[in-house]
Amino acid sequence: MKKKIVIVGGASSFTPGIFKSLLVNRKDLSLEEVYLQDIDEEKLNIMGQFCQIMAKKHAPSIKVNWGLERKDAFMNADFLLVQIRPGGLKQRELDEKIPLQFDLIGQETCGPGGFAFAMRTIPAMIEIAKDVVKYCPDAWVLNYSNPEAMISEALMRAVPEAKVMCLCDMPIGQELGLANLIGKEHHELTFDYYGLNHFGWFTKIYDKNGHDYAQDIIQGVKSGQLNDLKPEESARDEYWDDVFERIMKMIEFFPDAIPLTYLQYYLFPDDMLKTMDPNYSRANYVMDTRHKDVFEECKRVIRNNSIDDSELDTNAHGDYIVGVAISIANDLKNRYIVNVPNYGSISNFRDDVIVEVPCYVGANGPDAIAVGEIPDFQKSLMEIEKGYEVLAVEACLEGSYEKALKALTLNLTIPNANKAKLVLDALIEANQGYFPDFK
Ligand code: G6P
Ligand code: MN
Repeated sequence: MKKKIVIVGGASSFTPGIFKSLLVNRKDLSLEEVYLQDIDEEKLNIMGQFCQIMAKKHAPSIKVNWGLERKDAFMNADFLLVQIRPGGLKQRELDEKIPLQFDLIGQETCGPGGFAFAMRTIPAMIEIAKDVVKYCPDAWVLNYSNPEAMISEALMRAVPEAKVMCLCDMPIGQELGLANLIGKEHHELTFDYYGLNHFGWFTKIYDKNGHDYAQDIIQGVKSGQLNDLKPEESARDEYWDDVFERIMKMIEFFPDAIPLTYLQYYLFPDDMLKTMDPNYSRANYVMDTRHKDVFEECKRVIRNNSIDDSELDTNAHGDYIVGVAISIANDLKNRYIVNVPNYGSISNFRDDVIVEVPCYVGANGPDAIAVGEIPDFQKSLMEIEKGYEVLAVEACLEGSYEKALKALTLNLTIPNANKAKLVLDALIEANQGYFPDFK
């Protein structure tokens, strides 16, 4: 059966990478059509024309369509790759800058910024999931939209009949970096991991002989013999350099696992605060670099009607989500770290919530591995974070100010209820027309 794949949020600067990966893997996907859907007509027209030129060059048989209407986009779809950002980078900038006024970290998915992003995105994701159920109920939704932790909880509660899998490119990004550091190919290694989205730990990295490279890395950091965790081929911008130093510090402090980078915001909010510029946040940087560069390049390709010398290409971000689609489409049961209901995977953690664990992904979706019991330190941190996430989701679904305040008071990056209230009120003020009506 020929497949139709929809990119929801098709006007994102991440679309070229995903689209190219779809073209490269078109045979494994039996791909017939890619449909870009977005609410921003101007940017969508640019991205649509660019993708059409790319398809003409690499896979002329693939149909490329784009439009604003979800019904047109979703009818007969087999997969929806979703990457929306309600409020755009302008609201991201506020999410990052407002918390800094109260000496709280300003980050798009962690802390108060992530809360605000969730309050804007959850209602939009629910609308999308409901339309999926209406127009293409058998389709799989592979979601990259953030903050995934709370979106996955909200969709499980509000639209349980939709087939949704929330994916993050950070664990795979770190896996690729760690494989490079060890001097192995990624496919030679298996990574054990558990946690919540943007809140997890790698516990083992083993090859086919069972040798655990995670222990080598941890011991190397502890003994001082390993003094740089940066992979040789780091594709990231310089912003990521300091991140590797803080991963080392986390391993020095807590040498039982290799933490996901995002734990730096929860364990060292004081350090992170010092790195944040109230006048120039990550959103400003993304606007001035990736966002600007990608759209300028798309326009150049359209002007020349040629993609021959363009550098916009596949990347790990695009390959990851497309790889998951291939694994579902062909029932491959390949192993991916995804967000799934716990249902006993982490045996000493709540069952009724979403966790991020390795899964074997086939035609029926993800089968989580049995992680078993996790240690008290990580479990306790996860319980607090999960309490925050669940209350934030309930606040959003019910429009409850009280739950919103409880959520932020629990958040590990916010030291007390006074600050939680100050930042909540400021975020509500800055998000009128986006947030639910909190009562
Ligand atoms: C990582 C995370 C994504 C997040 C992205 C932000 O890849 O896994 O969830 O969207 O970072 O990157 P940016 O360059 O926009 O700050
Ligand atoms: Mn992520």
